[in-house]
Amino acid sequence: MSKKILLEKASIPGIKTYEVYRQNGGYASVEKALKSMTPDEVVEEVKASGLRGRGGAGFPTGLKWSFIDKKSGKPRHLVCNADESEPGTFKDRFLMEYIPHLLIEGMITSSYALEANLSYIYIRGEYMWVYKILERAIKEAYAAGWLGKNILGTGYNLDLYVHCGGGAYICGEETALIESLEGKRGNPRIKPPFPAVSGLWSNPTVVNNVESIAAVPWIVNNTGAEYAKIGIGRSTGTKLISASGHIKNPGVYEIELGLSVDEFMNSDEYLGGMIDERPLKAFVPGGSSVPVLPANLIYKTANGEDRLMTYESLSDGGFATGSMLGSGGFIVYNDTACIVRNTWNFSRFYHHESCGQCSPCREGTGWLEKVLHRIENGHGREEDIDLLWSIQSKIEGNTICPLGDAAAWPVAAAIRHFRDEFEYHVRFPEKIKNRDHFVNEPFEKVRHLVGKQTV
Ligand SMILES: Cc1cc2nc3c(=O)[nH]c(=O)nc-3n(C[C@H](O)[C@H](O)[C@H](O)COP(=O)(O)O)c2cc1C
Repeated sequence: MSKKILLEKASIPGIKTYEVYRQNGGYASVEKALKSMTPDEVVEEVKASGLRGRGGAGFPTGLKWSFIDKKSGKPRHLVCNADESEPGTFKDRFLMEYIPHLLIEGMITSSYALEANLSYIYIRGEYMWVYKILERAIKEAYAAGWLGKNILGTGYNLDLYVHCGGGAYICGEETALIESLEGKRGNPRIKPPFPAVSGLWSNPTVVNNVESIAAVPWIVNNTGAEYAKIGIGRSTGTKLISASGHIKNPGVYEIELGLSVDEFMNSDEYLGGMIDERPLKAFVPGGSSVPVLPANLIYKTANGEDRLMTYESLSDGGFATGSMLGSGGFIVYNDTACIVRNTWNFSRFYHHESCGQCSPCREGTGWLEKVLHRIENGHGREEDIDLLWSIQSKIEGNTICPLGDAAAWPVAAAIRHFRDEFEYHVRFPEKIKNRDHFVNEPFEKVRHLVGKQTV
C-alpha cells in the first residue's frame, strides 16, 4: 500500500470546508513556516526533499525557488499552473476538487518561502466548477486570517487570486500562462530571461504545478529529509497518476515513486489489469506528449530490468526504448486499439492547439495531421510513413516552446514501435476504409500480412 501524502485526507467527509480541513491538521505548515522558519529555511527544506516539478518536466522545485531574484527589490509572485489540458491528465482537477484547502495551504507556505505578496492560481477555463470550489475556499481562508494582511500577526501579507484560463492548451506552458495572466494572447516567450528573473509584469515569478505546490505542506510539517525517504533515488515522494484506457479501474491514484509498472497495472489495489482480460498492446505513461511504448517494453526495460514508476526508469534507454513520466497521464491500450488512429487523434489536438508563432510547429503539426488522416482513412501512400518521420524530425527542437516536441514525439514513437501497423494501413486500404481493422481483428492476428517490422 503506497503512502498517501496528498490524498490521505481527501475522502474525509466535508474536507472541502475550512472547518473540517482545519480540524484535521490543515494549515499547520503555514503556522510552522511563518512562526518558526525563515523563508530561506523553507526553500532549503524543499530542496532537501528532492521534490521535482509535477507539471511534466520534473525540474527540482527547491532549486527553481532558489533562482528567484530576491535582491532586485521588485515584487515577487508565485503562480500555480492549474491549466491541466494535456490529454490523459486529470489529476490536478481531482486534487483541487476534493481537497482545495491543501492547494491554498501550499500556496501560502510556498509564497512565504519566495517572499511573494501577490500570488495566483491559473486554472483551466473548462474547470469552472472547480474554479468556484477554489473561490469559496479562498474566501474561507481570508475569513479565517490565513490570507490578507499580517497573517498570524507575523507581519507577512499575501493576496491570492484564482484566474480563469484562456481555454488553450498552450496557456499551460509557463511563459504563455504568464502572458495570458497579463491579459494578452497566450503566446510563449523566448527564454532567457526565465520567469524567476522576469516573469509576471517583468517581476521575478515562480510557476509551479498544482501537485508540486500541494506537496509543500507535508514537506514543511515533516521535513524534507523525511520526504526524501519516500521513493527511490532521484525520484522522491509520491506522484498522482491519472489512469485511463482499457484497464479495470481507471481513476486518480497516489503512488510512491518506485512502484513497479507491473504492480501498478495489475494489482487490484491499482488498475486491476486489462478490461475483459484482453492482451495489453501499448501504453503512454505521461500524457499524450510522451512516447508510446509497445507491450514488450512496458514491464521490463531494454536491459531486462523491472520498469518502475520513476523519472529514470520510465525514460531508460532514451526514446529508442523508453518514454517519460511526464504529467502522469497513464493511458493503456489493448489489442483492439489502432495506433495510427490514436496518433492521428493526438496530432489533431496539437495542430489545433499550436499557437502559430513558430513555422515548424504551425505548419508541421498541420502536415502531420493531414498525412496521418489520409493514412488512417485508407488513402495513404507507401512514402507517407517516411514523410511523417521527416516532418516530425524537423519540428522537434526547432520551436520556442516544447509544444512542437510534444507534437513530434508521439508520432516518432508510433512509427518507431508500430511501423508495421502504418504499413498495414497503406497496403490494405479496403480494410481500413471499412473500419474493419483491429477492432474486429486484433493486430497480432494480421501482423503476418505486413511482414517483418522494418524499424
Ligand atoms: C504546451 C505545454 C503545456 C503545458 N501544460 C501544463 C499544465 O497544464 N500544467 C502544468 O503544471 N505544466 C504544464 N506545462 C509545463 C509548464 O511549462 C511548467 O514547466 C510547469 O508548470 C512548471 O511547474 P513544475 O516545475 O511544478 O512542474 C506545459 C508545458 C507545455 C510546453
